Amino acid sequence: SHTVERGEDGALSVGGVDVRELAGQYGTPLYIIDEQDMRDRACAFRDQFATAFGRHGAEVDVYYASKAFLSSKVARWMRADDLCMDVASGGELEIALRGGMPAARLGLHGNNKSDAELRRALEVGVGRIIVDSFTEIETLDAIAREMGTVAPVLVRVTTGVHAGGHEYIATSHEDQKFGLSLASGAAFEALLECHDAEGIDLRGIHTHIGSQILSLAAFQESAERMLGLRASFLMEAGVELPEVDLGGGYAIQYTPHGEALSPHDAAYGMADAVAAALAKVGGSWPHFSIEPGRAIAGPAGMTLYRVGVVKHVALDDGGERQYVAVDGGMSDNMRTITYGAEYTATVASRLSDAEPALSRVVGKHCESGDIVVRDVELPHDIARGDLLAVPATGAYGRVMAHNYNAMLRPAVVSVRDGESTVHIRRDTLEDLFAWDVAPD
Ligand code: LLP
Repeated sequence: SHTVERGEDGALSVGGVDVRELAGQYGTPLYIIDEQDMRDRACAFRDQFATAFGRHGAEVDVYYASKAFLSSKVARWMRADDLCMDVASGGELEIALRGGMPAARLGLHGNNKSDAELRRALEVGVGRIIVDSFTEIETLDAIAREMGTVAPVLVRVTTGVHAGGHEYIATSHEDQKFGLSLASGAAFEALLECHDAEGIDLRGIHTHIGSQILSLAAFQESAERMLGLRASFLMEAGVELPEVDLGGGYAIQYTPHGEALSPHDAAYGMADAVAAALAKVGGSWPHFSIEPGRAIAGPAGMTLYRVGVVKHVALDDGGERQYVAVDGGMSDNMRTITYGAEYTATVASRLSDAEPALSRVVGKHCESGDIVVRDVELPHDIARGDLLAVPATGAYGRVMAHNYNAMLRPAVVSVRDGESTVHIRRDTLEDLFAWDVAPD
């Protein structure tokens, strides 16, 4: 339930707040989160999976993957809406706790967790640690025993299912850094080690096949392979693992031509696949969990820019491209240059009836790859001072922002019912100076 609307004079409003007012109050670039929309998406995952798996008497916990976007206020929302959270570093762990998320509802990820991160996770009592290597199993076991405690653990499994939009975000093929291979037997071996470790309480298995995945069949295949592993562990080790986490990766729509995998289709499709797999391999229904990040935060966020320079460049084919330079760029949106991600854009401060022109939205950084939106039609009269909105930047936007060219990273605000709230304030020159150690 998006609350983005065009007012009578053609300007956009989000959550009942006119974007011109937000730009005036907080400056640009600005990330705007539609609170109602983000929370509805979180609740849709919670409810659709509860219903689809509930038909079989099974339960599903939804862990919001906080790497997509995290603030202590978002952690507060997730707590209030009965979600759990996936954190992937000591920093994410602390922000989640700061927002009041109970440690028991946190899962700690990472392929190379430090001793300090593992220690802290045990100290605060995180609900689960997802182990990613033999090194980690040995380290965690030793730390837990030394602390006189027992670590609740899931083993991260590489199922070999090929999925995911871009090579950099696909995670379940063999030749990448995450997880323990199902095919080679490493995952099985890791389960045995965890089972035998005194400092570890082996709770189950985890997999994450990649990100921005449209294919329901890929999720179904991965669920089947996971249940196969669970069944063989029951058969050979006599232990029925109580928990299975199927990860995140549900695709969202970025552009008018794009597609999404809805929580409803994912939930029912995966529940059916699990039912079929269990009918084949046997065993009772485990407690499930999933970890959507992008699909909760992505569509609920947009970036608001101020247009600066507009240029018209002749193309070889006789046409023309309109370059629209905005006051941000690759420092607030790394996804276009990194993954060739596609976005769209729209003039946000007014309606225009000018002819649409083939346009490219670029930033203000010192490199030509500094592109926010590669191809989009924008009105021919777009001009300095207009506000431009780029939708669907709520996930992997601000969290991947950086200070290249000593740019100040934008603020993040959420809006709801005509009110705005700051989650992350804009960087200031004082912030830059705080890191730069001045000469004597
Ligand atoms: N669970 C685990 C273990 C993950 O590694 C990830 C994402 C998720 C859940 C959430 O996936 P999602 O539902 O958001 O697709 N920076 C990249 C995406 C990297 C995803 C990393 N892991 C991008 O901007 O596309």
